[in-house]
Amino acid sequence: MVPDKAETGRIPAHVAIIMDGNGRWAKARGLSRSEGHRMGLKATRRAVEFFANRGVRALTLFAFSSENWQRPKAEVEALFDLFVSAIEEELPELREKGIRLRFIGAREEFPEDLQARMAEAEAQTGANDTMTLVVALGYGGRWDILQAALRWVRESGDAVPDPAGFADFLSTAGLPDLDLLIRTGGEQRISNFLLWQAAYAELCFLEALWPDVGDPDLQDALDTYSRRQRRFGGTGEPRDVAHA
Ligand code: FPP
Repeated sequence: MVPDKAETGRIPAHVAIIMDGNGRWAKARGLSRSEGHRMGLKATRRAVEFFANRGVRALTLFAFSSENWQRPKAEVEALFDLFVSAIEEELPELREKGIRLRFIGAREEFPEDLQARMAEAEAQTGANDTMTLVVALGYGGRWDILQAALRWVRESGDAVPDPAGFADFLSTAGLPDLDLLIRTGGEQRISNFLLWQAAYAELCFLEALWPDVGDPDLQDALDTYSRRQRRFGGTGEPRDVAHA
């Protein structure tokens, strides 16, 4: 679908989402937290379609943080099963829609079958260019900065990196700068997500719990974004990527 500019206003090139509230959604219904994550996956599908249809170039989703390993083993294992089946089930549609899948985070800590599916999904969608869907698994913003610093020291010798050069070592290298960071579930914090990348992102906090989030909430976030004046520490010249 060609993005409708009259409806959407300025379109961010790169949107990231902290998909929070699955546990509270489930608890309010007397369901298990894992059931909340399963319903969260449905909201994830809606969000991918919503942003792809509006011409967003990259969508980064916080699916499992470095700190989520502290959760009960049963919840962590249920999440891994959900990721494995989600990759398998969604792959045909992602391919059909021309969406490229990319995973960021300390993937070597994950079960081998999940790692294998991640690698296979990346390989099968690697040539797609409608939108890049980045799934952060085992991800932490501090981890990202530290792994980038380590690689930079190993690969760049004595050269002092400028911010743009350093960004090439982050796990998000090659993606557009982050424009809009959305968090659902009513909390207002970044929780060790894209710390470096969020430097000039617009932040948008939604009250809705992630499984309840649908197109109207996402449209609200885009409308909020398009009303913000971005100055990047300067005078306020717009810097958005133009979409045809
Ligand atoms: C946070 O809610 C949610 C997660 C840690 C898991 C998010 C995963 C999904 C929505 C599935 C998406 C799958 C793919 C493949 C992208 P919470 O459990 O912290 O909720 P709470 O704050 O209400 O307890």
